[in-house]
Amino acid sequence: MGAALALADRGVGRTAPNPNVGCVLVREGRVVGRGWTQAGGRPHAEAMALAEAGEAARGATAYVTLEPCAHVSPRGPACTDLLIAAGVARIMAAMGDPDPRTDGQGFARARAAGISVTTGVRETEARAMIAGFLTRRARHRPFVTLKLATSLDGKIARPDGESRWITGPDARAHTHLERSRHEAILVGRGTLEADSPRLDVRLPGLESHAPRRVLLSRTPEAGWETIPSPAAIASLAGVDRLMVEGGAQTASAFLAGDLVDRLLLYRAPILIGEGRAALGDIGLTRLAEAHGRWRLADARMLGSDRLEVYERD
Ligand SMILES: NC(=O)c1ccc[n+]([C@@H]2O[C@H](COP(=O)([O-])OP(=O)(O)OC[C@H]3O[C@@H](n4cnc5c(N)ncnc54)[C@H](OP(=O)(O)O)[C@@H]3O)[C@@H](O)[C@H]2O)c1
Repeated sequence: MGAALALADRGVGRTAPNPNVGCVLVREGRVVGRGWTQAGGRPHAEAMALAEAGEAARGATAYVTLEPCAHVSPRGPACTDLLIAAGVARIMAAMGDPDPRTDGQGFARARAAGISVTTGVRETEARAMIAGFLTRRARHRPFVTLKLATSLDGKIARPDGESRWITGPDARAHTHLERSRHEAILVGRGTLEADSPRLDVRLPGLESHAPRRVLLSRTPEAGWETIPSPAAIASLAGVDRLMVEGGAQTASAFLAGDLVDRLLLYRAPILIGEGRAALGDIGLTRLAEAHGRWRLADARMLGSDRLEVYERD
């Protein structure tokens, strides 16, 4: 299942509207097929692994990070039927699929065909892996990561707006890696005007993984996909993971709307003093409301900068 999760990770931020799934087929202790959901959502992980395994899938165990789909779509057959037809003996799944077209039916149909089914294997990791898909289903909007790059005193720019660069090359490279794991990236008009950001992925081998660029502004902008309010992220079709890169007004508006699921906080060992604060009004009325909202999920050094990742508690 660890190998299947690692394969699923390859699809993070690339498979909407489908979940990024991984599949490993094992027969007599040997891996005979591997698959992961491809960009745009097809082929599915199981179909890819079965195609690789061919006849070797007969009698194999399929490790899948999500219940195999049970619905035939215009884009392809149901993976449950493919697994049955291939003669797979056993399915080890991490979790059930909440999609009502599957939701237990994949497991039920496999069991009815004589396949042994176990589920719940490394479920917590599998859930985190498809946070975008699950957030879209449960909240009807993308999973949102907010990135902030600040000085030690919590500033994101000098008073005149100069903000390049606060963090060093390692932190910036990490931001590019994060971009490649989102279907879209959003900035506010103030950032567009101050920085003309390219918002691409400048990492060797990942250049083609650049996300769609979205602008937050009440006025449409030529050449940009523009949305008029943070809540309008719900209408971004094909985006299950959205990265918000500022600036302060934009970040604050997303936080005030309770639309942030994950915080990437890059902190550089510099002091700016007078300057632009990372955040403005986020709708807090009492200090007590601020507590218990964020849990540290990861912390590490990137060169001389510190990265802290927080998730909603
Ligand atoms: N260090 C960092 O991590 C970082 C990252 C990004 C930017 N920055 C810096 O931050 C500064 C820009 O920040 P900023 O706060 O001035 O600008 P901003 O947040 O980038 O953009 C503000 C604009 O976004 C739109 N907007 C904001 N909230 C909205 C809402 N609730 N509904 C609709 N539209 C909304 C409005 O555009 P309209 O007026 O067109 O409607 C508003 O004028 C720059 O100096 C930039 O260099 C730093």
